Parts: sequence; C-alpha cells; structure tokens
Amino acid sequence: MEQLPLKLSNAIDRELAPLHPDRLRDACYDLSQRYARGEFIETQAHRQAYIASRLPATFGVIRNVLKRISQHLTPVKTLLDLGSGVGSLAWAAADFMPHLKSVTFFERDIEMVRLGQHLTQNQLDPLQISWCHDDIVREQMFPSHDAVVLAYSLNELNVKDQLQVVEKAYEATDQLLIIIEPGTPQGYGNILTARRLLIERGAQILAPCTHNRPCPVAPAFKEGKDWCHFSVRIPRGKYHKRAKDGALPYEDEKFSYLVASPSPHPVPKARVIRAPIKKTGHVILDLCTFEGDLDRRVVSKSEGEIYTLARDAEWGDEWQE
Ligand SMILES: C[S@@+](CC[C@H](N)C(=O)[O-])C[C@H]1O[C@@H](n2cnc3c(N)ncnc32)[C@H](O)[C@@H]1O
Repeated sequence: MEQLPLKLSNAIDRELAPLHPDRLRDACYDLSQRYARGEFIETQAHRQAYIASRLPATFGVIRNVLKRISQHLTPVKTLLDLGSGVGSLAWAAADFMPHLKSVTFFERDIEMVRLGQHLTQNQLDPLQISWCHDDIVREQMFPSHDAVVLAYSLNELNVKDQLQVVEKAYEATDQLLIIIEPGTPQGYGNILTARRLLIERGAQILAPCTHNRPCPVAPAFKEGKDWCHFSVRIPRGKYHKRAKDGALPYEDEKFSYLVASPSPHPVPKARVIRAPIKKTGHVILDLCTFEGDLDRRVVSKSEGEIYTLARDAEWGDEWQE
C-alpha cells in the first residue's frame, strides 16, 4: 500500500472540507468522464475532484516507481517536474532522495499552481520549491537538473508534442529521466514511443526494461493483446471514498513507466512483468530478461533459496537469477 503522507492528507482534507459531498461526487464523476473522452481539468470543481480522487493514486504510483529505482536516486540534488499538477512529486521524493535540495515545477494551469502552492506551503521545508507557470510544449528548453520527471502529463499532449517534450526533457537530464503514464494500452503506447526516441538519442533504459533491445511486449501490443504495465494498491481516505462512492478501503491503480539515463548504470538481469502465480510447491514468474526476451520461469520448492525468493517476489520486482 502507498499511503499519502499525513501532512498532505490533512492539507487535502482542509481544502475539501467546505465542499458539499454531492458536489464533490458529481465533480469526480464529471472528471472521470472527461478523462475517458480525452478531455482534462477545466474548472475549480475538477481541480478539487482531482485532489480528492486522483492525487492519492498519482502520488502512490510515483512513490512506488521511486522506491523501485531508489538505488539510482541517492545522488539526486535537483529535480524538475514537467506537468506537475499540484506537486505530488515533491512529497513522494522526500523519502527516496536524501540529498534533494530543490524541486522546480512547470505547470500550465495557474489555478493548479495556486492550489499546489497552498498545499505545500511550509510543509516540505527545507526543500526549495520553485513554481513556473508555463506551457512545456511552448518552452524552448528546460534548465538542467539531476532528475527530470514527466508523470501523467504526456497523455495530455498529442504525439508530435510528446516527442518534442521528451526530447527537451532528456536534454535537461543530467542523471535520470522518469516517465510515468496510466497503465492503459494508450499509456503504454506513449511509453513505447518515448522509449524508441530515447534509445535513438543514446540513453540507457534502466527500468522497467533491463535492456535497450526492442520491447518484447510490443508485438502483442500491436495485435491488441497485451501491454506492459504494473499495479499498486492505494488506500482510500475519507474524501477519496466519498468521491469514488465506493465501499472498498483501497483501489488498485495500474501504471506504465520508463526510467532512462544518459550515463551507464548497473541493471538487474530480469523483471517480473506480471503478477506471480503462487501455487503449492511452485511459483510461476513471467520475466522480461536482459536479453530482451519474455521468459516464463517455473520455480519449484526443490530449488530451496531461489524458491523462497520467488515466493516473496511481486509484480514489478527485479529478478537477479
Ligand atoms: C494528470 S495531471 C498530473 C499531475 C502530476 N504530475 C501528478 O502526477 O500528480 C497532468 C498535469 O499536466 C499539466 N499539463 C498538461 N499539459 C501541459 C503543458 N503543455 N504544459 C504544462 N503543463 C501541462 C496539466 O495542467 C495537469 O496539471
């Protein structure tokens, strides 16, 4: 489970407390209908719906991705977030970047900037936070930062704009470029397009792929049969439950992602790319390997220590064998 930090969850509660529950529920419904039609946030009610119903999920996914790549994050001092919304990245980064000094947000919606400033005010000290009210498509270039993040923002751009934003984001990356998209076929398609471009520009792909070879899931994707994605469990808070009109105390949020670097890094031998199937006496792992292949590994109880590792393995984990 990826839980919102208490300070953020309290700040959201304070923001939403004056709203009538019916208004919030209607706004959440409207926002999810808009997302399904490929339309995005427009009104203050949508922004409130976003922090009630989407922010816990985008925060949880970002945190989960950062946790997975935490071994690469230790040197990161400066962070650039393109299409930052209300700045969920800064809250997630605090746990995994011990040397982080500053975060720069680029966001085109001035009301999102204001809401983000309000939610983060005096909460993340001594982190230096800069908000740039700007359109990432129009901006010619971005200032260099150790790590650059595009979380749930590429899918709001057309493919031509996505490519030029990824190109500019990579040019601004000193160490790591992190891209996160919804775990839908469209989100994975955006990741695949960015991946091809980054490999052409000489980047090393660090995650989820453990190789720079063609994505082995792409042929099945072209046939509409499969796409590379992962999942994280998000607990639902008071407003989140109300917004979703749901009784369940959690939801499973699917996501696709990509981490690339202009410099070489060690990578694991393989990654578990589907939920492991755990039976009595054996575990089935679907792996994407460093040779660029899909491999099904059946680990039986007789394999001792490896079997213990397989029993503990989760969807998205590295596999070192
Ligand atoms: C779905 S939200 C994601 C926010 C945040 N990255 C997160 O993960 O919580 C996408 C954000 O990207 C912003 N955005 C979309 N296109 C943009 C552009 N061309 N320039 C700057 N921001 C943009 C939107 O205004 C919105 O706030």
